[in-house]
Parts: sequence; C-alpha cells; structure tokens
Amino acid sequence: MEFVTYEVEGQVGILTINRPKALNALNSAVLNDLDEALDNVDVNTVRCLILTGAGEKSFVAGADIGEMSTLTKAEAEAFGKKGNDVFRKLETFPLPVIAAVNGFALGGGCEISMSCDIRICSENAVFGQPEVGLGITPGFGGTQRLARLVGPGMAKQMIYTARNIKADEALRIGLVNAVYPQEELMNAAKKMASGIAMNAPIAVRNCKKAINDGLEVNMDDAIVIEEKLFGDCFETEDQKAGMGNFLEKDKEKKLKVVPFKNC
Ligand code: CAA
Repeated sequence: MEFVTYEVEGQVGILTINRPKALNALNSAVLNDLDEALDNVDVNTVRCLILTGAGEKSFVAGADIGEMSTLTKAEAEAFGKKGNDVFRKLETFPLPVIAAVNGFALGGGCEISMSCDIRICSENAVFGQPEVGLGITPGFGGTQRLARLVGPGMAKQMIYTARNIKADEALRIGLVNAVYPQEELMNAAKKMASGIAMNAPIAVRNCKKAINDGLEVNMDDAIVIEEKLFGDCFETEDQKAGMGNFLEKDKEKKLKVVPFKNC
C-alpha cells in the first residue's frame, strides 16, 4: 500500500497514514488504503490498534482540498460516503483503536481521530473543523461525532467559528484523554495498547460493542445490550480462568488473566 503502513509489535498493530508531503491529507487513494489495511488486520492475534500520522508535524490535515475542489454535488456526496464508510469501519472495528495524534488534526483529521475509541496527543497537536471557511460542512462525521464527544454547544462553537484549538484546550473539553511531549507520544500509546492487550480480549471487544451500541439507543434498550454481551462472556475460557485465578487467591495468577478463545 502506498499511503498506509501497518506494523505489528507483540499484540499491538500500528497503522500509520503516510502521505507526509501533503501533511497526510486524505484523498481517495489514502481512504482506499486505509480500508484495505483494516481488512488485513488479523483480529485473532492483534488485541489493540494505534492510528497515527507519518512525520512530526501532522496527524492528518483533513480531506484533500485539491481533490474536493472540482467535485459536483453527487461526487461530493459519494466522497463523503467513502470517508464515512471507512471511518465507520474503524469505529465499529472489533478491536479498540487508540488515535495517537501527533500534530495537525484538522477537518477529516479531527474526524478520523473521533472515529477511534481513545485519543491521546502530542503538545504540538492542533484540532479543528475548518470546513465552513472553505465553504463546506464537515463531511466525514464531524457534525455528529464532535457533538457527541464534547457536547453540542462546544461542537457548534468549534464548527461555526472554524477556530482551531491547541492540545491543552482539546484536553480541557474532553476531546483528548492525555497530552504528551511529541517524543513520548508513541511510547505512551504503545503502553496503553499493551495494557489493553493484557486483558481478556473477548471481554474488551464486548465492552466496545456495549458502549458503542448502547449510546445509540435509549437506556432501557442499552442495558439489554449490556446484559447479552455480559452473558456472552460466560461462554469464554477467559471468564473461567480469570475468575478461577481470583478464587484460588493466587495473587500472581490473578494479575495474569491469560487469553483465551471462546470455549
Ligand atoms: N488537502 C490537500 N493538501 C493539503 C492539505 C489538505 N487538507 N493540508 C495541507 N496540504 C498540503 C499543502 O497544500 C502543501 O502542499 P505543497 O507543499 O504541495 O504546497 C503541504 O500539504 C504542506 O502544507 P502547508 O504548506 O500549507 O503547511 P503549513 O505548515 O504552512 O500549514 C496547515 C499547515 C495549517 C495544516 C495548512 O496546510 C492547512 O490549513 N491545511 C488545510 C487544513 C484544512 O482546511 N483541513 C480541512 C479540509 S476539509 C475536510 O476535511 C472536509 C471533510 O470533513 C471531509
């Protein structure tokens, strides 16, 4: 693939959007590569993904303005759908995804980070939805996910003003979970990913599904979703070994919930 690299370190997969000359802007080719890269992740051996951008300046500087500049209404709708389909694949991916935002996360860059489960960023990160300054709306889910993440008031302020915010403000409004010096960001992401990978993988997957699916329905339906996914865990080896270790009162073993497949 030309624009996305994929490496596996232990049980952590690292996807890097690699188009640094254009600050990793998302054109159709990048979106196709990302889609294919996700299809190629071995979800049985990898436990957590990290998504980042190549270089030290930019995570993703948005959708490709050059490619969008000549689109017709129908083509623009199709381009929006293309991005939305890939981002939704990421959002519903069976593994947790951590966005390690290492610079500009503007427009489609902010939007792709919001399709990940967790966002952490470097001190030089800049977030924003500059679209109305270009005469368009956010097109890869920004109007929807930003409002859900930081609340409609703050999302509307960011989107209507098109004002970028720095890492400290992104932290303050809950858009990112933590800010690190640039040189520490990837290690922090890997440490978090490895911590997630140590836990029972089916339980982690079910948690992601319970949170995501539950947020889309009312509380009465949401708790039913949780009950079913909770019940599913009781058909896994993880649950038997994890609880067995606890009951054996073996502290060492208790800390090592070993991985497991469905019984
Ligand atoms: N699309 C296409 N090319 C882009 C790009 C983008 N979104 N962002 C940066 N680039 C390219 C520049 O054209 C430039 O290419 P050349 O060297 O060939 O001229 C290269 O990346 C470096 O960029 P700059 O010279 O502009 O770098 P800078 O440090 O001066 O500025 C920046 C950095 C502030 C991020 C600036 O590049 C910028 O404002 N980029 C656009 C950000 C933006 O508006 N993003 C939203 C796009 S719309 C969108 O994403 C819609 C959607 O929701 C689907």
